[in-house]
Amino acid sequence: MYKISALEKIINDSIQNLSFEKSPNTLFEPIRYILSLGAKRVRPVFTLLAANLFSEEVDHAISPALAIEIFHNFSLLHDDLMDRADLRRGHATVHTKWNENTAILSGDAMLIEAFLQIAKVSSERLSQTFDLFSKTALEVCRGQQYDMDFETRTDVSEDEYIEMVRLKTAVLIACALKIGALVSGAPEIDADLLYRFGINIGIAFQLRDDLLDVYGDSKTFGKKIGGDIVCNKKTFLLIKALEKANNSQRKELEKWFNDADSDSDAKIEAVRNIYDALHLKTVSENIIEQYYLMAMDCFSSIDVPDWRKSELLTMAENLMYREK
Ligand code: IPE
Ligand code: IPE
Ligand code: MG
Ligand code: MG
Ligand code: MG
Repeated sequence: MYKISALEKIINDSIQNLSFEKSPNTLFEPIRYILSLGAKRVRPVFTLLAANLFSEEVDHAISPALAIEIFHNFSLLHDDLMDRADLRRGHATVHTKWNENTAILSGDAMLIEAFLQIAKVSSERLSQTFDLFSKTALEVCRGQQYDMDFETRTDVSEDEYIEMVRLKTAVLIACALKIGALVSGAPEIDADLLYRFGINIGIAFQLRDDLLDVYGDSKTFGKKIGGDIVCNKKTFLLIKALEKANNSQRKELEKWFNDADSDSDAKIEAVRNIYDALHLKTVSENIIEQYYLMAMDCFSSIDVPDWRKSELLTMAENLMYREK
């Protein structure tokens, strides 16, 4: 069985060995840049861990793992543009280091590179893998559009939020796990359990991301704190704040939403003070725990001996308490 650290090394080495076209450099340099910035590699490591549950070797899972990591990084180029974010993994985002058109086109090229990696899956598993990957990619677009549509609404429900997060974040994590199982020839029932495990872990992962966006440390988290507040993102925290606020807190939240020229540091501080007063950090940690427990339910039903599952379990635990 492979350790998480060994699989991280396989992914990082494979990414470093990827060769892209040489010219124009302005198209490919940003791709090399974003792929080398010190990401956590959660999704491709999940693919290899899932593959390793059903097979001793993981070589056959490397290409689809790379496809998922390249797709994820592509989605970040466009996400940072959409979210007006300057900082990613502690470095300038592609559209700030280069320009917006570069983030669009280098992102497009990465999406194609991702599909080229999927195309390397062995022919007997290719059709299933390709279908799931394509379906997932489209779901991520749907989730991202909901995320943007919600910026201008103040009546987003918790259910709508969970569906948005399922689409923009959880399906890719679930897909990463299921593809790892599929390419190792896992029984359909176990591949589906891994998918459901991934959905619940993925929702918890995005809830944690929303929490760190307010309460994290920028140095560790690598992103600017308060970015979601500035963009009026309907995070779990904001939805709960709108639900639990008294009249004066609600008026204050609405004032900050509607004032497009407000000072962003003042806005972040004021909204965070309301979250603090409503104890939303704890409320959020509790719901993360609930999704984690649902994930564990699916995980324990996977028909593989416990000793084979221990690294995957450690990986899931690490994610729950992550600070970056
Ligand atoms: C960031 O993903 C985007 C979200 C879905 C929250 P990660 O937190 O996995 O980012 P990196 O790849 O490790 O930087
Ligand atoms: C990211 O959501 C989802 C995708 C990239 C598809 P966020 O917008 O919260 O991710 P970060 O915080 O910028 O990493
Ligand atoms: Mg973002
Ligand atoms: Mg976003
Ligand atoms: Mg975020």
